[in-house]
Amino acid sequence: MGISINTFGHICFYCKHYKNTLAFYEEGLGFTRACELKDEDGMLRLTYVKVSERQFIELFPKGYTSDNDKKSRALKEFVLYVSDTGKMEERLKKRNIWYEETGMVPKAIHTMDPEGNDILILKDSNQINDIQLMKAVLNCKDAEKMTAFYRDALEGDGYLEFAAGRNDFLGRGDSYRHVCFVVNDILQAAGELKRKGIQIKTGTAKCINPYVFRPDPQKAGTFMVYDPEGNEIEFMQYREG
Ligand SMILES: [Fe+2]
Repeated sequence: MGISINTFGHICFYCKHYKNTLAFYEEGLGFTRACELKDEDGMLRLTYVKVSERQFIELFPKGYTSDNDKKSRALKEFVLYVSDTGKMEERLKKRNIWYEETGMVPKAIHTMDPEGNDILILKDSNQINDIQLMKAVLNCKDAEKMTAFYRDALEGDGYLEFAAGRNDFLGRGDSYRHVCFVVNDILQAAGELKRKGIQIKTGTAKCINPYVFRPDPQKAGTFMVYDPEGNEIEFMQYREG
């Protein structure tokens, strides 16, 4: 029995320019703020910006050590599918947000958030929702090994792509933190991964995420695993369905 990943839930970034980055996703791309999670002292820990019904961008108002430069960072880009790229282009133009046509695929747009994270916006006419968080592309040292891990161990399908050519593992000092896969049954997924010899990290509940089903109220409800190049991957089960 497989893990049964049912969606690409979110992509998570640390932000050196939190206000601007939040504004970029809300006002720029037109997403809505879904929730802000604070710890018990009232400090803001993270914000969810809603992309589609069950997909989010997760932003931490927390810096990172590197410059998030393209040569060393883990994330090459992430991809949004939209039903109408023209509408998005108009939106960006109206707000003076930098973008370019990539020229690779007709109507494909490339833009960038204030942290420097690259975003590719593609038209998908089969798109049921207006917009969908489709996949993340990771720079990596050994694309074959990474593909094997995600395909065979995590049984992911179409949510991640790998770009070879990252010279070395340079630590996790860039803006990108993780992707999150939503599963139907978090306990079953944890059991399945453990059975495959993958180490699992669970955290205590520092703040309550309203979207997450938590089988143990003392724990966060989500868990993390690490791929062969040290990238973090989060798993969660939604409370509703
Ligand atoms: Fe997350």
